[in-house]
Amino acid sequence: MAVIKVSHPLVTHKLGMLRNIDTNSKDFRELVTELTNFLTYEVTKDCELEKTTIPGWEGKPVEVQKLAGIDPSIVPIFRAGIGMQEGFLKVIPTAKISYVGYYRDESTLQPKLYYAKLATEIHQRRVYVLDPMLATGGTTSAVCKLLKKQGCKDIKVLCILAAPEGLSRMEEDHPDVDIMPAVIDDHLNEKGYIVPGLGDAGDRLFGTK
Ligand code: URA
Repeated sequence: MAVIKVSHPLVTHKLGMLRNIDTNSKDFRELVTELTNFLTYEVTKDCELEKTTIPGWEGKPVEVQKLAGIDPSIVPIFRAGIGMQEGFLKVIPTAKISYVGYYRDESTLQPKLYYAKLATEIHQRRVYVLDPMLATGGTTSAVCKLLKKQGCKDIKVLCILAAPEGLSRMEEDHPDVDIMPAVIDDHLNEKGYIVPGLGDAGDRLFGTK
């Protein structure tokens, strides 16, 4: 598994603003969108191009290049993953959107799927899983398992903050999946929150606290 951390002064600056508990929901959402723009540029660096011909301004055909293959799909993990959707789509507007939702079974503490609506021909697409917080990695791992069951072979995970515990879990379960975090934090606390972290990303995105 490759962990490709995005190093850029603007990313570091925006992460600082995101961690600030005084940053309101509107600004928080905008920062997540901007950070997702950066992550999307980085994670798509290896996309293949193919030649095509377009009508040029002089009335003659011009050879240009376009992204090869069929459109990718994003998989925002409900709920906080939705906050990264707009940022990704600003960079690749033709991406299909596959939604998945999981809840935590309180007896087994395992993620349980309650909703999935995947793009058609998902097995032929590159898939970008979106979740701002890779904490224990349990849900992200379950999503990758679900996608692999559907035949997906090219899966990448975009997150804003990752905990070492979540990265280890992903390395163990899905060594073939690349992870792109904006930053790797220190550890998880006893309640499963990333430290230093930013709190509950869903609550901060949607103003539910
Ligand atoms: N999910 C969050 O929203 N925050 C954390 O710190 C961990 C998981």
